Amino acid sequence: MNDSLQNAIELLVNSKHAIAYTGAGISVESGIPPFRGEDGLWNKYDPNILELSYFYLRPDKSWKVIKEIFYDFFGEAKPNKAHTVLAELEHLALIKAIVTQNIDNLHYDAGSKEVYEFHGNSRMLVCTGCNKKYMAAETNLNGVPLCTSCNDLLKPDFIFFGEKIPEVAYRKSIEAAQKADVVVIIGSTGEVYPAASIPRYAKENGAKIIEINPEKSLFTDSITDLFIKGKATEIMHELLIGIKQKI
Ligand code: APR
Repeated sequence: MNDSLQNAIELLVNSKHAIAYTGAGISVESGIPPFRGEDGLWNKYDPNILELSYFYLRPDKSWKVIKEIFYDFFGEAKPNKAHTVLAELEHLALIKAIVTQNIDNLHYDAGSKEVYEFHGNSRMLVCTGCNKKYMAAETNLNGVPLCTSCNDLLKPDFIFFGEKIPEVAYRKSIEAAQKADVVVIIGSTGEVYPAASIPRYAKENGAKIIEINPEKSLFTDSITDLFIKGKATEIMHELLIGIKQKI
């Protein structure tokens, strides 16, 4: 077992308030492609489809691509070993909360309870007129879905570029960063703000930063204390084995 992994195990076992910060990379091994990198979604699709102005101007075109990416393709994804290890570490009271940029619901599906969805969640739709919520799985997404109460446009309940971060998730994520003595960053480029400020707040407060990623990110040479190169499922599996040997 390499030194960084060994040191990460020690840090977590001795932590008082460890949290996880996850990005698209933790769901890659569930079959959900990342947004950036060689097979990133933004290489295939125009990120403009997630610009709020475009969505309102061309809901027909925007919804067609949103359905293809976030519902047809992602809909069947299941939690992987990295998600289930985080849920087990929460159960062992070693991870107190997860701040996630992901909208795929896989942390909840894996059994994690304290999850702050910084960018919302794709499982629900919300009416842009009266705020009524709908289960995406129970809504016909062929064409442009409309509210059955006020007939206005429905949109996925995750944030589009230009939209504000969900209030409660934002506040709880900052509170978590202020309390954290250890942050485990899993699968994020660190490119997207304000999400990427959360691990940085924790670092400013003296937290130790553990990072798991096959590649370096914008966190690695700036705030990361322990960089563990590798895939989320493999590293998290080894982390859990090491932790269980010590508790
Ligand atoms: N295990 C761990 N990390 C991985 C794996 C893996 N198997 N495969 C890829 N990664 C890493 C990549 O190296 C990269 O650092 O996951 C990251 C994926 O980068 P992004 O797709 O940019 O993910 P993220 O940083 O979370 O940004 C996603 O961008 O478009 C916005 O709102 C959108 O929440 C989304 C955010």
